[in-house]
Amino acid sequence: MNVQAKHTADATTVEEGLAIQQAQSKFDSQAATDLAMQNTLLTPRFYTTDFDELDAVNVEPVREDWDKLIAQMRSDPNKGHFRKTEDWDKVDWDGMEPELKAEFLDFLISSCTAEFSGCVLYKEMKRRGNNPDICELFSFMSRDEARHAGFINDALREAGVAVNLGFLTREKKYTYFRPKFIYYATYLSEKIGYARYITIYRHLEANPEMRFHPIFKWFKEWCNDEFSHGEAFALLMRTDPKLTQSFANKLWIRFFLTAVYSTMWVRDHARPKFHEALGVDIDWYDMEVYRKTSEIARQVFPLELDIDNPRFVSGCKRMNRAVVAMDAAKARGGVSGLMGRIAAGANAAFAFANLYTIPVKKNDVPDDVRLEPAY
Ligand SMILES: [Fe+2]
Ligand SMILES: [Fe+2]
Repeated sequence: MNVQAKHTADATTVEEGLAIQQAQSKFDSQAATDLAMQNTLLTPRFYTTDFDELDAVNVEPVREDWDKLIAQMRSDPNKGHFRKTEDWDKVDWDGMEPELKAEFLDFLISSCTAEFSGCVLYKEMKRRGNNPDICELFSFMSRDEARHAGFINDALREAGVAVNLGFLTREKKYTYFRPKFIYYATYLSEKIGYARYITIYRHLEANPEMRFHPIFKWFKEWCNDEFSHGEAFALLMRTDPKLTQSFANKLWIRFFLTAVYSTMWVRDHARPKFHEALGVDIDWYDMEVYRKTSEIARQVFPLELDIDNPRFVSGCKRMNRAVVAMDAAKARGGVSGLMGRIAAGANAAFAFANLYTIPVKKNDVPDDVRLEPAY
């Protein structure tokens, strides 16, 4: 395959998208790859699962919606979109305020890692499966994520850094999740991804002078991809009512909602300069993203977190303080650092328990599962 002249935006399969990125990887930088290699509470992880169990899913109970969704993915509305065009304004990386630059690079690297994490998981499912429905879905989703990761890497290369995705695939640690946990976590991360991208996009549409980097112009089509990926997981969960209705699974859903929401709060609050440059108040932004995500997730989850309960924001803030204290204790080292880590760990656990025990709101899921992106 001649990959030199092609761009990841035009790749129609995940293999092609990755081959193009592999050919570019000689330009990729160690520092960015090191950052992407990190496995902390707050950095995107790579996942693996029981692919045979996932492959055995029978989509007949949702066949009509399934075929519509797959037809839409097959038509590939965003082919060619994820590339620089004349809309790509020149970025003054050297003139960027150093703190903003550091936070923005961190944002791009962690977004790239998250996109690529989806790519690797979906590609593996496609490769290992025999079920034509499952394989087709996962081939489309991995195709999209390869483009997304490739595009962020294009942006990073202009700043002289980029993530070596081939290296990550081989060397990054994989976390095992049972398929149902993959559904909960991935459904949420796709829908939150949609809510995050569209909220920034709409904000910058109203305040274009705050758009300090051209990549945000691409967020609308981008979030539509994530929205459809989320729809696919909603349908997968609908194939088996137990996944969302059994007592134990409801507790798991509550757990994943709490973990994903509180992690997002802590991650975002670690990037004050980035949000300031966008003109976005982080508390407002996070609440807005939770609100959209919670509304969307009513399509499939039998409960939602009560984000308006005052304990919710205070719990998130407490979690954030614990994580900041943990980082400081790690940096300090020695006996004092160790004591600090124990205290911070206990505080984080307490904050999580406090969030987890906020009474949830019950939700009767609708008969009709499918949604369209409406924000
Ligand atoms: Fe993506
Ligand atoms: Fe996605």
